[in-house]
Amino acid sequence: MKILFATSEAYPLVKTGGLGDVSRALPQALKQHGEDVRILLPGYPSVLSQLSEIKEVCVLSPTHSFQESGRLVEALFPGSDLPLYVVESPGLYDRPGTPYLTPEGHDWPDNALRFGYLSHVAALICSGHLPMPWKPDIVHCNDWQTALVPVFLAHRGLARFPSVLTIHNLAFQGNFSPDWVQKLGFPTSSFHMEDLEFYGHFSFLKAGLVHATRVTTVSPTYAREICSSDLGYGLQGLLSHREKDLMGILNGIGPEWNPSVDPLLQAHFSVSDLRGKTRCKNALRKQLQLPVTPNVPVLGLVSRLTHQKGIDLLVDILDELMNEPLQLVILGSGDASMEQTLREAQPLFPEKLSVTLGFDEALSHRIIAGSDLFLMPSRFEPCGLAQMYAMAYGTPPVVHKTGGLADTVEGFDFNGPAKNQSTGFVFEDLTPQAFMNAIRSGLSQFQNKNAWQTLRKNGMKKDFSWTPAGAIYTALYKEIALPS
Ligand code: ADP
Ligand code: GLC
Repeated sequence: MKILFATSEAYPLVKTGGLGDVSRALPQALKQHGEDVRILLPGYPSVLSQLSEIKEVCVLSPTHSFQESGRLVEALFPGSDLPLYVVESPGLYDRPGTPYLTPEGHDWPDNALRFGYLSHVAALICSGHLPMPWKPDIVHCNDWQTALVPVFLAHRGLARFPSVLTIHNLAFQGNFSPDWVQKLGFPTSSFHMEDLEFYGHFSFLKAGLVHATRVTTVSPTYAREICSSDLGYGLQGLLSHREKDLMGILNGIGPEWNPSVDPLLQAHFSVSDLRGKTRCKNALRKQLQLPVTPNVPVLGLVSRLTHQKGIDLLVDILDELMNEPLQLVILGSGDASMEQTLREAQPLFPEKLSVTLGFDEALSHRIIAGSDLFLMPSRFEPCGLAQMYAMAYGTPPVVHKTGGLADTVEGFDFNGPAKNQSTGFVFEDLTPQAFMNAIRSGLSQFQNKNAWQTLRKNGMKKDFSWTPAGAIYTALYKEIALPS
């Protein structure tokens, strides 16, 4: 089957979080299942500069609704045989900052146009309106940035074109002023509850959820959670209404997250030989100027610094943690006040706390490999990849029981011996104390050599590959494909 995978980021061309990792690894897994999958990305500077042998597919002429002009170009995704289409429109995408934010950290004021245009071009590819030989059978969209693809198709008389919309995070909905309805070429009559409107806004995600043939999200538990008012962000009614078309498919991790070959690590290790992990731990501490003291556990955290990620819980227990014989290594970026709090805390504990603010792929791998425990106290977590990376790297995670964290981490029984399958530490109440208790339980197991080896190895032996999810997506595409 021919699948257009429309997305706003894909590692290593552009990544701000897990969507970037998924958009690289899932298409590759689908290709291994025999699908003809092609990725569509916006032409950000980091994308175009990393591609070689770019070929023009066609010119994108201005239309009645979109005055923008540009080109659709194609290339191979670096390091693979995956075809990639890129929407080159310098006025929209040739900008500094992240794909979504200005260098000062504000949303670009024309994000509705930037991602509306991306979705519009994807819809043109699907409808066969561009002079190109390849026409997809299915379009797979991801999050609000490409959620308008099925909406454009429906409004252009192609409501039956098969589409899958994956929700990676319902908290980001792409809600814009109603002015954008007409500006993006939709009739004002479509601005109502059953179509584009969501509490007075034009909501890209909501509109996509109305029109997509099928909706998926990235873990079975999150699929249930978003149908309730707690985590439904006002969309629980629509999602419950579409329950039979909604499915939770657990993400996997890509083959580059393998501690026995990871080129970003200073030493390698595997489940049968963990010696390299100690070398990674010491190299990490040297790099971050923490003393290399034997038998002191290193706790790692690599995260967007946001409310979702429960960073406030960590801040609440920081003093208590710093009283323990441990070292804590943090890498993150995000909320300015959280960054400021961590920046101020660091000099108070020079021997115990390392804080790196920013986005650093290599350091993220080194922290995940070099830590003993990985902290992920997310308030909610659609899937979470970092905890799976941690388990694959022999670093038991401490996680809040929510979404994909609940689906991937087998909790240690705080009051009993290590279960045969335990892979980490799971706390249920979202309180600083429950988080601290789970960490303490981890610290006490760290001292117990046998239990610790079991825990680490259990995680490393788990199959987190994309193979099972690839098979489920392939079956889903088959179900919705139109008869040829
Ligand atoms: P989310 O997508 O919600 O941020 P995930 O756990 O699914 O959470 O994916 C996060 C990805 O981003 C992981 O690959 C993680 O290692 C990476 N990451 C998060 N923050 C940083 C950072 N500051 N530097 C490097 N990588 C980061
Ligand atoms: C989102 C979610 C995260 C998930 C990722 C990839 O960013 O917050 O939980 O792992 O998407 O699906």
